[in-house]
Amino acid sequence: MEDQTSLNALHPAPSPLHPKLLIVDDEEDIRTQMKWALAQDYQVFLAGDRGSAMEIVGKEQPPVVTLDLGLPPRPAHVEEGFAALAEMLSADSFIKVIIITGRGEKEHALKAVGEGAYDFLYKPVEIDELKVVLKRAFYIASLEREHHFLQRQIGEGDFQGMLGGSPQMQEVFSIVRKVATSDASVLVVGESGTGKELVAQAIHRLSPRKEGPFVVINCGAIPETLLESELFGHEKGAFTGAHIQRKGRIEAARGGTLFLDEIGELSLGLQVKLLRYLQEQMIERIGGREQIRVDARVITATNRDLKQAMKAGAFREDLYFRLAVVSIPMPLLREREGDIFMLAKAFLNRYAEEAKRRITGFTNQAMRAIESYSWPGNVRELENRIKRAVIMAEGNKISPADLELGMHHARDEFLNLKEAREAMEKEMILKALTKTKDNVTRAAEALGISRPTLYEMMEKLGIERK
Ligand SMILES: Nc1ncnc2c1ncn2[C@@H]1O[C@H](COP(=O)(O)OP(=O)(O)OP(=O)(O)O)[C@@H](O)[C@H]1O
Ligand SMILES: [Mg+2]
Repeated sequence: MEDQTSLNALHPAPSPLHPKLLIVDDEEDIRTQMKWALAQDYQVFLAGDRGSAMEIVGKEQPPVVTLDLGLPPRPAHVEEGFAALAEMLSADSFIKVIIITGRGEKEHALKAVGEGAYDFLYKPVEIDELKVVLKRAFYIASLEREHHFLQRQIGEGDFQGMLGGSPQMQEVFSIVRKVATSDASVLVVGESGTGKELVAQAIHRLSPRKEGPFVVINCGAIPETLLESELFGHEKGAFTGAHIQRKGRIEAARGGTLFLDEIGELSLGLQVKLLRYLQEQMIERIGGREQIRVDARVITATNRDLKQAMKAGAFREDLYFRLAVVSIPMPLLREREGDIFMLAKAFLNRYAEEAKRRITGFTNQAMRAIESYSWPGNVRELENRIKRAVIMAEGNKISPADLELGMHHARDEFLNLKEAREAMEKEMILKALTKTKDNVTRAAEALGISRPTLYEMMEKLGIERK
């Protein structure tokens, strides 16, 4: 690598947060000039040959490289440059290599692009043009990396439509896999929105009954008198209004799975009848005499503490032990390490695509608000807030306000000076733009800044013009 001290003495040291750029050129003057021009915006690394270039690629992993094809030992030829290109791409398949080449060598440039280079520029390089190309290359490199990272996370976390990379969810998936192959009754226990129904569906889909029906009935949503005939069915004339014979949902689940949601809401009378079915696999329709054999697997879910209900005499112990041969506790969203952001991004991608909106992520404040919120409604609440935010968002990033997670979260405890300033800047810029009907020149005037500065700030703050 080059000695950088003389240059650093003239330039302010680039912050380590600046993206890393590698410049490969055999001519020292050119390297120095380019570094001089770019050190404000990038952490610039320099190399004069393939060997030292590859060393930097391995150690620093710069997302973007500029590469002069004519490298020693034969600087008048291009094969060393092509070899360097191939090595870089195989070391890092995301690396963006910009070829620097003579005007007369367009075919080399095109060949390099065909072999995976990102773009090419002619010598002598115009610095302004280079800056534009670099900016775009870094932007695309970061998008690709982020996309890849997300895909991998989602790929790893996806289990039968359920996302979850946290150890807590991995544990749930592992129990689901084990119980799916048996016919054991399963009780899924968890607060609202934790994914109980998804778990029941996953068990069904992984079970030998997957070709059979999956029948859902919410015991809390149907009045008791109706619930009995809903579950067991009735014969014609069994009660006033029973004009025809009707099969119940248990029969409908024959050969498949019956999912009884909110089982804690079942009355004591129906608990006895359900218990009989579980013991004998037989039902009797209301008003009927016939014993009907029905083979269905029963999965239940509750967000109530059934042990408490048993103590209070509201839930039968014998039924509980029948239902909870296996019990799956669902973790709260806030306890699932690392899952909140992964789910948030997955929902953002899903709904932004659905709404055809280019929303790329969350503002820092939004990330903090998401992190500090307690998520009482768990995954369902997160999904709903993001679905809404995608529609409400004004910029290309989601803000706490879009999520209806009051700024007070951030303002009280979590906003540092920089974030507070950005929040205020954003608010003022949005106001100025609204007032001037998105006329950037007049908005800049009103704010007392230049037009380019306003553009720059808008980009930084994720504000899009309508
Ligand atoms: N792990 C997960 N990955 C992706 N989406 C999920 C996950 N868990 C839940 N969801 C989504 O959250 C919502 C609620 O899930 P589900 O209906 O299974 O929860 P529940 O525990 O039955 O909730 P409730 O008690 O409110 O009925 C659904 O839209 C579901 O798709
Ligand atoms: Mg549910």
